[in-house]
Amino acid sequence: MAQPKAFLFDLDGVIVDTAHFHYQAWRRLANEKLGFDISEEFNESLKGVSRTESLDRILSHGNVTLTPAEKETLATLKNDWYVELINKMTPDDILPGINAFLEKTRLAGIKIGLGSVSKNAKPILERIGILNAFDAIIDGTKISKGKPDPEVFLKGAEELGASPNECVVFEDAVAGIEAGRRAGMKTVGIGQPDILTEADVVLANLNNLTIEDLRKALHF
Ligand code: BG6
Ligand code: MG
Repeated sequence: MAQPKAFLFDLDGVIVDTAHFHYQAWRRLANEKLGFDISEEFNESLKGVSRTESLDRILSHGNVTLTPAEKETLATLKNDWYVELINKMTPDDILPGINAFLEKTRLAGIKIGLGSVSKNAKPILERIGILNAFDAIIDGTKISKGKPDPEVFLKGAEELGASPNECVVFEDAVAGIEAGRRAGMKTVGIGQPDILTEADVVLANLNNLTIEDLRKALHF
């Protein structure tokens, strides 16, 4: 039977709970600097989206117009606050089931790639001690288009020597599932089925997941 050749993991919200830190930092910015609040529901539309695009979406949500220089200042401030939060992370912050699943993936001979839009991806992987688990790392420094553009996953597949239909994408973001699908890959949503409606399979987390069960669920 066919075997998947590469698994491509999103970082924020899949490997670590930094999706929550991004929300915290954007919310603080909206509250303290822009004078409005952003809900958790609105935050779903920011997941997987680049820093500058996220700020644009927040500004348009609050009907605020700023100059490019003002936007740059706010994006930098948000990132400073975000970096303060991630600097406190340790290997204990890796989400449940991830280490075991990466090990099972490696033992099955399947390549492991990171597909993240974040420019903070490498420092985070270093902090939580799993940088070496990845055969390829595609992050915000290597791409020009954020999700839902498929660029990040297509580059990952290329670096890992796999064709798109041999790849599986693991994502917590609506934009990330769309990026995986547009890349021609199978997608596993990590989160809620009513939000990640376009994913091939949705799981709450990767706890106790076996490669065989996944292969069956994705019809490999
Ligand atoms: C994605 C997050 O992984 O990275 C987004 O889901 C974030 O919320 C994007 O905006 C860019 O991250 P960073 O760390 O470069 O600001
Ligand atoms: Mg994510």
